[in-house]
Amino acid sequence: MTDSVINSSRDREICRRLEQIRVCYELGDLQKNAEDPEAIASYYRASDFYYNAVHSRGGHAIHMGLSKDGLFRHEDLFAQAEFVAEQMTPETRSVLELGAGKAANTKYLAPRFSDVSFTALDLPDRNFLRTRVPDNVRLVEGDYHDLSCFAASSFDLVFAVETICHSDRKGTVYREVARVLRPGGRLIVFDVFEPKPISEMSVFERDVDAVVLGSMCVTERNQWIGDTVLFLEKSGFSGIAVSDLTDQIQPSLKRLERYAEQWFTHGKARRLFRKLINEKASRTSIAGWLMPLCFDGIDLLQYNRVVAVKDGLAGTGS
Ligand SMILES: C[S@@+](CC[C@H](N)C(=O)[O-])C[C@H]1O[C@@H](n2cnc3c(N)ncnc32)[C@H](O)[C@@H]1O
Repeated sequence: MTDSVINSSRDREICRRLEQIRVCYELGDLQKNAEDPEAIASYYRASDFYYNAVHSRGGHAIHMGLSKDGLFRHEDLFAQAEFVAEQMTPETRSVLELGAGKAANTKYLAPRFSDVSFTALDLPDRNFLRTRVPDNVRLVEGDYHDLSCFAASSFDLVFAVETICHSDRKGTVYREVARVLRPGGRLIVFDVFEPKPISEMSVFERDVDAVVLGSMCVTERNQWIGDTVLFLEKSGFSGIAVSDLTDQIQPSLKRLERYAEQWFTHGKARRLFRKLINEKASRTSIAGWLMPLCFDGIDLLQYNRVVAVKDGLAGTGS
């Protein structure tokens, strides 16, 4: 890391961990991933075991838990879905989840709202259609940059958990969402964002963000929350509310950090297990070890919830 301003004990600890990580991984490779759907699908296929067994302990959630009291509990993995449930009203008849993964969120909601029709969308080539789901859930393979398989105004609510960060064309995603949402319909996004534009980051911050996100196959460099708000406004959304939930993911981050610490500090075991674990999947440990430091304070990464309402008829709610 060159031309960098290292000015806090946090930054020095990041550098120390990066040195250790470099002993195990070629960091230049992380940015080589193309922003193509096959690379992303292949990463999640390879990481299925890790996300299922370690990350969510069999719960199929491929996202952070939201913990309110500083302690991680398994049910925290359903906090995002709980929030979606709170946003549903008796008028909500059809819900679309983008980048649904193993459909953990949709599967959590569907039995509770048995008269609502749920659609979950994820990329082809990742065994998505094999997911077992309740009768009121339809699984669709596709790319959220092109929602032409859905009619205009066909959903009352669209939500996306930790997936739009993968997009290098977020404006296109939000235009597509605006088209398939009915006027007055609601979009809910939970994701990792950067609190400032890349142009305002130091070289050190840019490099660290690129390594952390790249190790999770997120190679798009622009994750600035300000741009997302602009994209939403341009796509015809209003009432845009951004909530910073960074504090609530700390217990999840600490938990993943403990696994990653073991991985990077026990060389003998790592060398043994590395032969058994897919390389792409094992690189997720890089994010596991660095993320608690990057979300510590608000200058590198943030975890935000964004709620926006599609412009149109007033009073239709969602
Ligand atoms: C971190 S996982 C989150 C999965 C799920 N939302 C959850 O909360 O458990 C990201 C998911 O986004 C999907 N994804 C990434 N890019 C996509 C795209 N362009 N279209 C549809 N899904 C996409 C990936 O295949 C992956 O399943």
